[in-house]
Amino acid sequence: MDVQLKILRYNPEKDTQPYFQDFTVKNVSNDWRLLDVLQEIKWQQDGTLTYRYSCAHGICGSDGMKVNGKNRLACSLLLKDINTKKTIVVEPLPSLPIIKDLVVDMTSFFSKYQVVKPYLINNTPPPQNGERLQSNEDAEKLFESAKCILCACCTTSCPSTWTNENYLGPAAMLKAYRFVYDTRDDAADERLDILDTPDGIWRCHTIFNCIEACPKEINITWHLSQLKKRISSREM
Ligand code: SF4
Ligand code: FES
Repeated sequence: MDVQLKILRYNPEKDTQPYFQDFTVKNVSNDWRLLDVLQEIKWQQDGTLTYRYSCAHGICGSDGMKVNGKNRLACSLLLKDINTKKTIVVEPLPSLPIIKDLVVDMTSFFSKYQVVKPYLINNTPPPQNGERLQSNEDAEKLFESAKCILCACCTTSCPSTWTNENYLGPAAMLKAYRFVYDTRDDAADERLDILDTPDGIWRCHTIFNCIEACPKEINITWHLSQLKKRISSREM
């Protein structure tokens, strides 16, 4: 089959504003991924088409983009899961500055991630065997949140992010959960203080866009609700 695409193009060195360009890719099959289609365009039609990818297997999180209005990973999206009878519209992730075509500047996304201190904080010396152990039950509480690959699909799909560029956003707060609920970590209160601020957890209005966008099917909203409960039940 053949597929039609409309891809947002923008080269800041020569374009005054972004515009859509049409492409047709012939002889594709249903089991191609969107990334394969983009590669075909780049290799056979227009070498200037610019997008970011690395692993091509849903691990690195670098090829988030908006496809037919929803944030997706190009390497994990099969053509059979898109309506290929209609033109496929491909745009960069929303609300981040475009560097070129489908590549966005992730600086603000990663700055917010840093704000929640995304690392284990424990100032006591490790036990003699060198490992800080935890029970399977305690580890299981972290597994889902630890699946995050930092693709930014959730944060950039959130209307609260669109209206407030300082909002920490779901990905950063999910990372906070991952350490707040880690029995080996000593900085839960410090992180909860960071979330309990005007640009923090209370700007999550349970809209669920993040869950729909997440390629790892993480129930982000549930994790944020646990943080809200924990903050609300703290003694002042
Ligand atoms: Fe991507 Fe999901 Fe992590 Fe958000 S929570 S950054 S959508 S993997
Ligand atoms: Fe690594 Fe898609 S290229 S997640």
